[in-house]
Amino acid sequence: MYITEEIKRRRTFGIVSHPDAGKTTLTEKLLLFGGAIRVAGAVKSNKIRKAAVSDFMEIERQRGISVATSVMGFEYKGYKINILDTPGHQDFQEDTFRTLTAVDSVIIVIDAAKGVEPQTEKLMNVCRLRHTPVILFINKLDRPARDSFSLLDEVEETLRIKVRPLSWPISSGDSFKGVYNIFDHSLLLFNPSIQEIQPAVRFGDVHDPRLDSHIGRDAAVLREELELVEGVYPAFDHGSYLAGHLAPVFFGSALYNFGVQELLDTFVKIAPSPRPAHTEEREVHPEEGNFTGFVFKIHANIDPNHRSRIAFVKVCSGHFQRNNVYTHVRLGKTLRISSPTAFMADQKETIEEAFPGDIIGVPDTGNFIIGDTLTEGEMIRFRGLPSFSPELFRYVENADPMKSKQLHKGIDQLMDEGVAQLFISQFNGRKIIGTVGQLQFEVIQYRLEHEYGARCRFEAISMYKACWIESDDAKKLEEFKKRKYQKMCLDKRGRDVFMADSPFILQMAQEEFKEIKFHFTSEF
Ligand code: G4P
Repeated sequence: MYITEEIKRRRTFGIVSHPDAGKTTLTEKLLLFGGAIRVAGAVKSNKIRKAAVSDFMEIERQRGISVATSVMGFEYKGYKINILDTPGHQDFQEDTFRTLTAVDSVIIVIDAAKGVEPQTEKLMNVCRLRHTPVILFINKLDRPARDSFSLLDEVEETLRIKVRPLSWPISSGDSFKGVYNIFDHSLLLFNPSIQEIQPAVRFGDVHDPRLDSHIGRDAAVLREELELVEGVYPAFDHGSYLAGHLAPVFFGSALYNFGVQELLDTFVKIAPSPRPAHTEEREVHPEEGNFTGFVFKIHANIDPNHRSRIAFVKVCSGHFQRNNVYTHVRLGKTLRISSPTAFMADQKETIEEAFPGDIIGVPDTGNFIIGDTLTEGEMIRFRGLPSFSPELFRYVENADPMKSKQLHKGIDQLMDEGVAQLFISQFNGRKIIGTVGQLQFEVIQYRLEHEYGARCRFEAISMYKACWIESDDAKKLEEFKKRKYQKMCLDKRGRDVFMADSPFILQMAQEEFKEIKFHFTSEF
């Protein structure tokens, strides 16, 4: 009973956006509501403070991006909220994708002037794949914005999801008056000179004549637009939202903390508590008695004085307790977890227990890799942490022959953390590193040097895609591998990967070997 209550009050979600749409600002305002931080600016200044003590983080500071993913937990109106932060920079999108495997819902922030941007689309694709419930926050209404209807048309078209506005903006930019809450017919007036939240004014409905005294001539436009909203968009259906088919939409300005509380109050009411998770063997339900969880993120350099790593574990079922002995399924051994931590904005503290939906940090000396499962003895493996085919490939070479051991160890550990992917050529044994963006190569080089004392050199290689191959026809598979032996690699788990040089070569291979399936993710 106690566990069921704990599960029901948990909301574990991620905020995602194209860089600069306002993800960090919104996160910070949500933390302010939860009392997890006291002053605005704390989240950003935290980033910079870390940069001052860690060389690696200096990269982050200089580039003005958030490389690290962190977890922020806080209490709000009886709910336990866990926000999983994701790096905004697209070179680290795989990190973001993995984090999305640990959330139960998502808030997508969209810049009202820019609309849907490329990164928004990619992130939505991942949410759609996993049927993750999505809420949209249209941000920066204090600046001139695009017409709300055309913006929502674009959202529906490019993000391929039905939308339902739950609030509606009254103009934007200099003439921005505020937002009207469509469901409880309340008006939130915007006043840029007052940072505190003004109490909402409640009306019987949008035809209430008092509305005119508050927003003047804009009242007529609002009535017209709301009539159109009711005509165009389906009614809000909770089931469709939970199934990932319908996204409720809020408008506001994260910078002015405007419309954020409405978002949060609705979010806690409608967003799902922890959902069942899939393993290779069966579906795991949060209410099950036995603890299970999986590692979705490994974070190095938490403490720059030690080579410390923390494995982030999402609790999927049962009751996690400190000092209990749990089974590490991949290694087939048991572990006592004596100092699990929870995260609160920039602080972490040791915890005694955790429930489904919670994220715990487990200090790691190299036992964990991304995707590892912890249980109370059951040998199950969580699914849903695929590697995607990288976009860029380079041979990696040792630049300091005296340090080859360090280099191998460093590369191994960085790959376990999911910094990039390693493929080994079956033809000549050379190592190929695949990434999503150029920045990852720089991070690898930097970290190998600073953490492992090793130096590497990258060598250009022209490659289009890594394809994980399989076939029911073992003979054909062998024939293919023989024919393409110069292009065959093994991934970190020893699976066959065909490296296609170009879209043309791939197409030819697909046409010639119809019995073989070519996958662009490692999980199929
Ligand atoms: P991100 O995490 O999605 O990358 O975006 P972030 O919150 O860092 O916001 C990007 C920029 O947009 C910041 O300005 C931020 O202040 C601004 N911003 C966020 N929300 C709003 C909003 O509602 N209205 C307006 N007008 N601006 C907003 P910056 O100048 O790049 O950084 P800073 O110096 O203000 O921190």
